[in-house]
Amino acid sequence: MKVLVIGGGAREHALCRSLSLDPDVNALYCAPGNAGIAEVAELRPVDALDGEAVARLATELRADLVVVGPEAPLVAGVADAVRAAGIPVFGPSGEAAQLEGSKAFAKDVMAAAGVPTARSYVCTTPEEVDEALDAFGAPYVVKDDGLAAGKGVVVTEDRAAARAHALGCDRVVIEEFLDGPEVSLFAITDGVTVLPLQPAQDFKRALDGDEGPNTGGMGAYSPLPWADPKLVDEVMASVLQPTVDELRHRGTPFSGLLYAGLAITSRGVRVIEFNARFGDPETQVVLARLRTPLAGVLLSSANGTLDAEPPLSWREDAAVTVVIASHNYPETPRTGDPITGLAEVAEQDAPEAYVLHAGTRREGDAVVSAGGRVLSVTATGSDLAEARTRAYKAVARIGLDGSQYRTDIAAKAAERG
Ligand code: AMP
Ligand code: GLY
Repeated sequence: MKVLVIGGGAREHALCRSLSLDPDVNALYCAPGNAGIAEVAELRPVDALDGEAVARLATELRADLVVVGPEAPLVAGVADAVRAAGIPVFGPSGEAAQLEGSKAFAKDVMAAAGVPTARSYVCTTPEEVDEALDAFGAPYVVKDDGLAAGKGVVVTEDRAAARAHALGCDRVVIEEFLDGPEVSLFAITDGVTVLPLQPAQDFKRALDGDEGPNTGGMGAYSPLPWADPKLVDEVMASVLQPTVDELRHRGTPFSGLLYAGLAITSRGVRVIEFNARFGDPETQVVLARLRTPLAGVLLSSANGTLDAEPPLSWREDAAVTVVIASHNYPETPRTGDPITGLAEVAEQDAPEAYVLHAGTRREGDAVVSAGGRVLSVTATGSDLAEARTRAYKAVARIGLDGSQYRTDIAAKAAERG
């Protein structure tokens, strides 16, 4: 099978790594990719937001499957363009990707499907904003309706800050604050059948102890030793299957990866958000634990034949990933700094620990930083403590001037097993 992956972050590196290990994959391309992905896939330049260009590239490469990684191309309808060219594609249509692209749309789908989520108001005027803020009280949760690359959500005790964020958005969702640990649960679906993956936990805040600003995610681990073993079944029944059914009944079937961001509250599981693609950095740890070869499952999603797939098979191993970010991330990050230590990790820590590239590019012989999140250092082990030790040992070998990472990824969970 020839596979083309669209995107160029650590999630796409994790996807390409798994696909490169799949014996059914005999040619692997990534567009545009990054310096790390170049080691497992052939890179092609493309404007990932241009559906026609992606479809042309897929046709040229005679791809049997296109996997669209990030949300922006999905919302822009790139999967539709590839499908229209007659090539199987893993990823939802632009319309179905509105589940991520519009928080108001997601709330509407959840209400219709009876999926538990935070109570919310959609506001477009200052009066509506004030009413909604006062209805819920602090802490305030204010979400830009549209895609905002991780910057759209403000959670704050400060009413003035909440109001200012709301007034800066055209349309805003203001909702009830959900208390409790967060879980990311992904499912692969073809619009009818839903195959859940293993849950993971993401660390959203920039600094240790969950301090500092929200980021795209600073680390992740899986499994969750503290979670109820029935969690996946419960979320399948109360969230994932009803959402997929609702979208199909609306005539906008969702195929691809359905990402449920959940809060485990004292009153039960609530959906914080849906995404229409694999999460980053959670994918790095989930795929590290997946035993089933990936390509066949993604192709079954694209072809609508997931009902014939057996349940996914998982390793006993635990996995931890630690994100190394640029100086000044998540504000305007500094880029162009050389990265050292990559060869040492490959020589001394593999295969248990390895480096997945997020924002990197090659400059002559050097690999340099090219984005906010630069590397996602991933490791497996017999338990979280071992995976964590291995991940941080590899992190310590990496040199990147001014870079930052959290030192407490999976620390609490590792104490529990
Ligand atoms: P999002 O960009 O939608 O993933 O939101 C970013 C982060 O804001 C989430 O991971 C949560 O930590 C937090 N958040 C979003 N919605 C809520 C909510 N209703 N209650 C508490 N925290 C929330
Ligand atoms: N890790 C959060 C996300 O992918 O949106």
